Amino acid sequence: MIRLYLWRSTRWRLVLVILLGLILELLLHQYYYHVPRPSQHHDPPFQIGCKEPRTDAPRENATIVMLAQNADLEQALVSIQSLEDHFNRWFHYPVTFLNDQPWSEEFISRMRKAVSGETIFEVVPSEMFGYPGWMDREDAKQSGLVQEANGIHKGGLESYHHMCRFYSGKFYDVEALKSYRWYWRVEPHVQFTCSVTYDPFVEMAKTGKKYGYTVALWELDSTVPSLFRAVSDYKAEKRIKTTALWKSMIRPSRIPWPLRKIWRFKQLHDASGDEWNLCHFWSNFEIADMDFFRSQEHRDFFEYLDRKGGFYFERWGDASIHAWAAALLLQPHELHYFQDFGYFHDPWRVAPANAKGGQLPDSKALSGRGKEWAEESQNGVGCRCEHREIRNFQNWCFNKVQRATHPTPWPNKIGWQ
Ligand SMILES: *[C@@H]1O[C@H](CO)[C@@H](O)[C@H](O)[C@H]1NC(C)=O
Repeated sequence: MIRLYLWRSTRWRLVLVILLGLILELLLHQYYYHVPRPSQHHDPPFQIGCKEPRTDAPRENATIVMLAQNADLEQALVSIQSLEDHFNRWFHYPVTFLNDQPWSEEFISRMRKAVSGETIFEVVPSEMFGYPGWMDREDAKQSGLVQEANGIHKGGLESYHHMCRFYSGKFYDVEALKSYRWYWRVEPHVQFTCSVTYDPFVEMAKTGKKYGYTVALWELDSTVPSLFRAVSDYKAEKRIKTTALWKSMIRPSRIPWPLRKIWRFKQLHDASGDEWNLCHFWSNFEIADMDFFRSQEHRDFFEYLDRKGGFYFERWGDASIHAWAAALLLQPHELHYFQDFGYFHDPWRVAPANAKGGQLPDSKALSGRGKEWAEESQNGVGCRCEHREIRNFQNWCFNKVQRATHPTPWPNKIGWQ
């Protein structure tokens, strides 16, 4: 009897020790993905309030880029007019228009009139705007039809797949863009609602930034089921060190090791069973360094993803690809959040909250959302903003991706519509 008791108690002790070990491991696992907020702001705005634009200052090696088609002319003009009114009329940067078809006379002549800088009209070669050479086109088209039938956003649009692939890994090699380092991507039918009276390219270069954004939110999971697995496998294969942004984009598993590894077979999970929280930056606005995308590290990364076929057999978007490239290869201080930009891309609007003293008025004062104009302050962020639309849109993602650079969460400083 006594011997049996002893045996049992050691066994229970062992079970207890193992249990504690597993719990400890689980806690450490959660802790590993925790990104502490810094005590100071590591990514301040490039300018506070409005200043006279310094039109005589040297320009950067930069161009504005728009991918459009002839039929987009009116919508493209909306964007260009807005960009000219709020920025380029002082700085006269060149605008490079990209199209996979030859440009119409009308598009060219009207854009020449609208742009205050040089205009370049480029036709993207078909090998950059189409299926990769190895891919079976019929299979890819078939997959597009299935995606459409399954209601995957734009999954049935062949040219949309081409566009996503082009903006993920090809645009920086277009002949007309080779002679530039910096670009500002502008989509047809967007509007800028604050004045930008400084040169963002110069500031990016000066502060060592590589990638600038205005919006961070969730990716549609149905468009990217296997993307994260591919990206994380690549990271493991290349033994790339985990960055803070990478950690911010992961939802660590709460299942004890080694059980959590079973989740590796689920979509949106990596080989350890941790999950992408689907946060990413919106890429329809970007100001970034093309030399970053042209680096061998990035080229290798894109090639690896391209071979997986997800640009066609799923509907991987360039926004997620760029966000993962940044999470993989950039440090937090190399990213810039343009919090002073007002940006409208239907149906989303972001606008800085430049109110008196840099503080927001109480929420009642904001109920007439969209009607009021910003009460501008020289201490506030944003210049001559036409809208100050504040809405408590849940921007959990936005706070997540900013953790490593921003000391406090942003409850209200960003307006959403
Ligand atoms: C602009 O940048 C591109 C790409 O880095 C480079 O090839 C080119 O020489 C640069 N031009 C100038 C004037 O610095």
